[in-house]
Amino acid sequence: MSILIELQTTIEDMVQKGKGILAADESNPTMAKRLQPIGVESTFQSRGDWRNLLLGTPGLGDHISGIILFEETLSQTSNDGTLLPQVAEAQGIVPGIKVDKGTIPLVNSPGDLVTQGLDGLAERLKLYKEQGARFAKWREVYPVSQHNPKPLGVKVNAQVLARYAAICQSVGIVPIVEPEVLIDGDHTIVRCFEVIEKVQQAVYKALFRYHVSLEYTILKPSMVTPGKDNAHTASPEEVAENTIKVLRRTVPAAVPSINFLSGGQSDEEATANLNAMNRDYPGQPWEVSFSYGRALQHAALHAWHGQAKNREAAQASLLKRARLNGAARHGRYTPQMEE
Ligand code: 13P
Repeated sequence: MSILIELQTTIEDMVQKGKGILAADESNPTMAKRLQPIGVESTFQSRGDWRNLLLGTPGLGDHISGIILFEETLSQTSNDGTLLPQVAEAQGIVPGIKVDKGTIPLVNSPGDLVTQGLDGLAERLKLYKEQGARFAKWREVYPVSQHNPKPLGVKVNAQVLARYAAICQSVGIVPIVEPEVLIDGDHTIVRCFEVIEKVQQAVYKALFRYHVSLEYTILKPSMVTPGKDNAHTASPEEVAENTIKVLRRTVPAAVPSINFLSGGQSDEEATANLNAMNRDYPGQPWEVSFSYGRALQHAALHAWHGQAKNREAAQASLLKRARLNGAARHGRYTPQMEE
């Protein structure tokens, strides 16, 4: 298959009405943080059990079109010995892979971060592709303060995302471009808007300079919300109005899909906010969808508690959130559906 046809096929499989992406790509330290509250030690085995449970959920493919995996998951198997990327494909879910290696402080730009992992990326991608991955994810992180992100942080992070995206496309892998503007802090929704506008403008300028074909990319942004320590809680309508406005200002129409991260919003908030965007602002040039980690897995993890006997209850929890977010893709979610 030519690379362009490969990229196009992957986009068509990933971008489907009423469906979104499940982010299950927690690094080992992050997975330890997720497992600790339910009293489960994070080991190769327990992480494999959890991801096996997620991917084995009957009907998951009705609402989920892509799953982001972590490197070790590519080689893990279900109980009958099937590799997990193949379990995903059998559900009609495209397997993808997180390829960044986490953040470090950006030297000479105090308070800003930059993500590592570009060296040798093309070779790693070829290997992941052989193991079944068809798309990748890379996350740049922008802490918000009065002075951050600084102009240097905005520029450098955009360049790294663009280099990553260009490398992915050169080997037939669809890049998910994730500039995460953190919800941490007491900043206002106005400040969040201003930061996201600057960040996304810089990202698309860099993607253009690096000759990335936007048609074969997916954006994974943050929603425009107040910081989590701000006294004001924004309604879904307010989040939707601000988020759609900033997206329309910054994201070219050639991008097929925008799949939000949940970033610390509660399960219900993340669903209600996505729903308000699709209900109140239909007909955008791109699909408005989800790529949630915590907001899809949180309830299921707590139903599971690391015990095999809770497997079905946990899968039911995951399926419920996937179904409700699927409804939010059409603007058809109501809080009554939670019952
Ligand atoms: P959250 O939805 O938990 O923010 O995770 C999404 C993700 O992939 C962050 O990189």
